[in-house]
Amino acid sequence: MKAGHIQYAHGILRLLDQTRLPGEVVYLDLDTAAAVRAAIRDMRVRGAPAIGIVAAYGLALEARRVAAREPSADSFMRHLETAAADLTAARPTAVNLSWSVSRLLERARQLLGQGTAPKDTAAQLEREAVAIHEEDVAACRAIGDHGAALLKKEVLSRLRPRGRAAENGGASQRAGGRRLSILTHCNTGDLATGGYGTALGVIRSAWREGLVERVFVDETRPLLQGARLTVWELQRDGIPHVLIADAMAAHFMRRGEVDAVIVGADRIARNGDTANKIGTYGLALAAHAHGIPFVVAAPVSTLDPAIARGEDIVIEERDPEEVRRFAGAQPFPSSAPVANPAFDVTPAEYVTAIVTERGVLRGQFEDAITALHAASRTGDRS
Ligand code: MRU
Repeated sequence: MKAGHIQYAHGILRLLDQTRLPGEVVYLDLDTAAAVRAAIRDMRVRGAPAIGIVAAYGLALEARRVAAREPSADSFMRHLETAAADLTAARPTAVNLSWSVSRLLERARQLLGQGTAPKDTAAQLEREAVAIHEEDVAACRAIGDHGAALLKKEVLSRLRPRGRAAENGGASQRAGGRRLSILTHCNTGDLATGGYGTALGVIRSAWREGLVERVFVDETRPLLQGARLTVWELQRDGIPHVLIADAMAAHFMRRGEVDAVIVGADRIARNGDTANKIGTYGLALAAHAHGIPFVVAAPVSTLDPAIARGEDIVIEERDPEEVRRFAGAQPFPSSAPVANPAFDVTPAEYVTAIVTERGVLRGQFEDAITALHAASRTGDRS
């Protein structure tokens, strides 16, 4: 893929450094799995689908490098397994990372088992990484379509009018131009995926269909992915938005100013419990209390039926300095003890729907999640 924030050509992975946005647009050129691992760990690239794609390219880079030394098939495979374990350990919560790396390892085993030389296997792994990237863009587009349809049919159609229209005529006035105010958290857009986005992809598709009035963007402390990255994307698309501090979300819900909450996911357990950026659980509770739909948008690669429930999801704990510092400055006492879980888990009971590229899941998620995941492994795209 030769365009966008993740580009790959001829053994070089070019990444837009998200730690420098929105102030500077700087690209990094990487050519080893170790450099890719560091970029993921330091969140120069972040967002579950994006780190899955980048890890696949990282493993393909390693395959290319090792194959050039003309190793035996066994030694080649051992190198790949070590690099895969390192890449997967870079960030533990998002399942997309181990999903994509396992997909490449499986392909390598299959090819080597058929007698394919390491060099040719490496070339095939590059193609597999590109396929993962392209499939993610297509998945995001489909998530956008399904999500926009859901918003139109099940959220917009049930809304009461606001303000004057409400006083004058109740629900019958809804057709008079009411559109949706959507709250989102973190960054789930182009930058967090192969392109287009999951939750932000739904917002993009809904905006194109004229369904969106404005987007409330949570700033998303401590690393400000909402304020830095989502605002940057919405500005580029001309989608009206309001930036709010995380603590303000419940206030706007209580005032009736939020019609739906849409977030992404890093890992969805078999029962639908959803790990996502820290702060998501609080949003789900507040949405539940105010009868506001709480929608999760994620590709099938984020479903993890191997994990039965949210309690079993490993939550990444990050550097305390991320909390002690704010936008590069250190306004807080440097000795303050800090907790910094990067994610939290929202129990499935607070999730109204999960929008995937294969359609919308609702209610008891377990059977649907197991079936979708199994179908994706056998290549059944029906
Ligand atoms: O720590 P981050 O920035 O990688 O966290 C990102 C999120 O939590 C996103 O909501 C999630 O990965 C879905 S991105 C489509």
